[in-house]
Amino acid sequence: MYESTDKVTPETQIIPPDSGPQRTENDIALSVSNVYKVFGKRPAEVIKRLKAGKKRDELTALGTAAVIDASFEVKKGEIFVVMGLSGSGKSTLIRTLNGLWAPTEGSVVVGGTDISKISDKELRRVRQQKISMVFQHFALMPHRTVLENAAYALEVQGVAKADRLARAEKVLNLVGLEGWGAKYPSELSGGMQQRVGLARALSAETDILLMDEAFSALDPLIRREMQEQLVLLQSELEKTIIFITHDLNEAMFLGDRIAVMRDGEIVQIGTPDEILTSPANDYVAAFVQDVDRTRVLTAGGVMEPALAVVNLSGGPRNALRTMRDLQVSAAFVVDRRRNYLGTVRDRDVMKQVEAHSSDLNSVIRKSIEPVSPETALNDLFGRAVESPIPLPVVNDAGRLVGALPRVTLLAALGNVPSTTGEFPVVDTAVAPIPKQMVTDALAKTEGDA
Ligand SMILES: Nc1ncnc2c1ncn2[C@@H]1O[C@H](COP(=O)(O)OP(=O)(O)OP(=O)(O)O)[C@@H](O)[C@H]1O
Ligand SMILES: [Mg+2]
Repeated sequence: MYESTDKVTPETQIIPPDSGPQRTENDIALSVSNVYKVFGKRPAEVIKRLKAGKKRDELTALGTAAVIDASFEVKKGEIFVVMGLSGSGKSTLIRTLNGLWAPTEGSVVVGGTDISKISDKELRRVRQQKISMVFQHFALMPHRTVLENAAYALEVQGVAKADRLARAEKVLNLVGLEGWGAKYPSELSGGMQQRVGLARALSAETDILLMDEAFSALDPLIRREMQEQLVLLQSELEKTIIFITHDLNEAMFLGDRIAVMRDGEIVQIGTPDEILTSPANDYVAAFVQDVDRTRVLTAGGVMEPALAVVNLSGGPRNALRTMRDLQVSAAFVVDRRRNYLGTVRDRDVMKQVEAHSSDLNSVIRKSIEPVSPETALNDLFGRAVESPIPLPVVNDAGRLVGALPRVTLLAALGNVPSTTGEFPVVDTAVAPIPKQMVTDALAKTEGDA
């Protein structure tokens, strides 16, 4: 009934991970189309010459092209990071997003409204209700309490005092400043003052938050804490955040996607993984050279297809045959829907076969904790060292989506392409039972199911 197969059994085939929901128009929070911002005497002439192929350095006598032909869309709930060296145009770009600068050419659409086409009055309304901004140095008002500072945006919106203070109080709690409302800014540390700035932007309850080097003045540890808090806040409040930084590690930690700017142009837009593993040019490559890859790369980004996979319902004979064919001493066990169940060792399975048992379930081991695709590699090295077999990568739905052999982890660190596909299976630390022994055992028990 069970023929020996040289090929991979159907159970070992790879089921692609669930594909995400379709994107629709309504998912877009903000869209920028062919935006130019030129300072100086003859902006229109500068744009004309740029379009004709001139470089911005050749046109400085006519004006400074701070942003050149920028186009991108930011999805609702996304953290979109703009990164680039000093003078690359980040602040100018972000200022066109809330109408602080009108683009010299091109359009900026916020929540369906083209803000380059509306009156000043309407623009003020957009700024109050749709977009708030957090700067590197916030001018907190020294003679007002922390609570009053946090409530400032609501005051500008004309919200009644009792209401705005109550709302600001809630936001202070959110940013970790519970109980500090009655203090004055000078009584707070720099990090705490920056939290007040964040609270002030959050209290406006706008969907979009623009943050220009908002954490750059903070000490590294506090900065890291703020980054983590921002990610947490984002997941709770589902804000759309556009975050400017020249710090690559910060960009990589925060960004769902990153736009890299150089000399006014966006030279690449991609996920942290994409920027890191396929930089668009030497400039981006030089930028990412020093990044701590272990914090950026995720299990899902570097994992291998899990090939040493056996199906529970296939029973011990099938499992053993698969392991023999792949020359591995262990395999992952899944059910028919590819839900991850655990691992089996060839020795244990061999015993079941020799005992004429059709039960695979009783030899499944649960000692290896599966890894979520989002886990940063940084958090996996310890576990990879301890685990005798590759770590199983299992998604939120419980499905096995890949495997992480140690060699893949190492390859990812050095940005060496790790084999995909060829790399048969699993670099188990334990040698598999010799092929012939398995074949003999299978032959002896031929006819068992
Ligand atoms: N108001 C202005 N008038 C004239 N030139 C300006 C103005 N604002 C910015 N620029 C120029 O535009 C270019 C981009 O500046 P921008 O402030 O956007 O850069 P940045 O990427 O934010 O830099 P940094 O990291 O130093 O903040 C620079 O050459 C700058 O000198
Ligand atoms: Mg700037």
